[in-house]
Amino acid sequence: MKTAHRVHFRDARKMKFLPDASIDLVLTSPPYPMIAMWDETFTALSPAAGKALKRGDGRGAFSAMHRSLEPVWAELYRVLRPGGLACINIGDATRTVGGRFMLYPNHARILAFALELGFTPLPAILWRKPTNAPTKFLGSGMFPAGAYVTLEHEYILVLRKSDRREFDDPDAKQRRRESAIFWEERNAWFSDVWMDLRGSRQALGRNEAVRARSGAFPPELAYRLILMFSVKGDTVLDPFLGTGTTLKSAAMAGRNSVGIEIQKEFRGEIFAGLEEVVPAGRARIRARIDEHLAFLERCRAEQRAVKHVSRHYGFPVVTRQETGILLNLPEELRVRDGEGFEVSYRADPHRLDAAASAPATPPAVPAGGQIPLF
Ligand SMILES: C[S@@+](CC[C@H](N)C(=O)[O-])C[C@H]1O[C@@H](n2cnc3c(N)ncnc32)[C@H](O)[C@@H]1O
Repeated sequence: MKTAHRVHFRDARKMKFLPDASIDLVLTSPPYPMIAMWDETFTALSPAAGKALKRGDGRGAFSAMHRSLEPVWAELYRVLRPGGLACINIGDATRTVGGRFMLYPNHARILAFALELGFTPLPAILWRKPTNAPTKFLGSGMFPAGAYVTLEHEYILVLRKSDRREFDDPDAKQRRRESAIFWEERNAWFSDVWMDLRGSRQALGRNEAVRARSGAFPPELAYRLILMFSVKGDTVLDPFLGTGTTLKSAAMAGRNSVGIEIQKEFRGEIFAGLEEVVPAGRARIRARIDEHLAFLERCRAEQRAVKHVSRHYGFPVVTRQETGILLNLPEELRVRDGEGFEVSYRADPHRLDAAASAPATPPAVPAGGQIPLF
């Protein structure tokens, strides 16, 4: 298996170079309106936003900033295939403009516009993101009633274009079977509150300072959403690419990807992290297998039956849907003409180095079954 990844340094408000219905999943995080670090970006996208800020008109600036994002949301609707999904990570903002402190509800504004475009909103994920900002106690402190609660979460809006995606042809069906996630992963990941992402593996976080300045999301957030909402061989688009987290996570997960970024200065950061994609992708797959083995250990300790058997790995799995899981190990990454890269994957079911990945007590495997395998 091979995947291709391409970066376009241009303005995502015009995506004419992408054909209609050519994208399976959008995963993105725009600049956040009314968060001061993005004022300059928004002033460049919309002079009206800059002028409104200058005259202390918070509501006007909020509207103008959102109007400058709307052409991108409209283009996403066009390029998504029917049944394709868009995951949009967005946080609300609190800010004092013209002497008035208020909440600027970015997620609500984007959701309302997505509804107008025809998207079908699905339940969103609240990403709990504790803040250590000094503004933790806002307003009147210990005195009622003028204190404000602290924003400690962001949203991942989940939108679908039209009805549920069909997997009609045999190839699509097969890719879907191989892309199933483990039962215990499903239970954890399909919760609507994510609490576990801080301090998670930062495999692609070579330069945390740059990542923080650019509003990068954690690689684990991108990787997980890609596994949840696409199948191997799909194409994932990020129109606000930043440091390139989506492209690298898509490559780790065996998906193709396209990224659009308006600032050419990000080229260095996007391409600098590429040598980590293969080792990080392999390590993440190994961790998924090890976590599954640990889950099987707990099942055994609790005497819970795990009835089905993985066809490729020989270990037990809870449901029939998991029996076809096939994890493609990234093997080699080649940079192509400075604007993209390709990744090849090992096609054969992996023989994992059992000594390195087996837990101290091997999991219960059926008679004649194999011990998994890296
Ligand atoms: C919140 S950051 C994305 C961070 C990214 N998720 C990551 O992990 O690094 C938003 C990015 O969108 C870019 N951007 C803003 N407006 C854009 C536009 N119209 N077209 C393309 N990129 C744009 C900004 O330069 C910025 O890098």
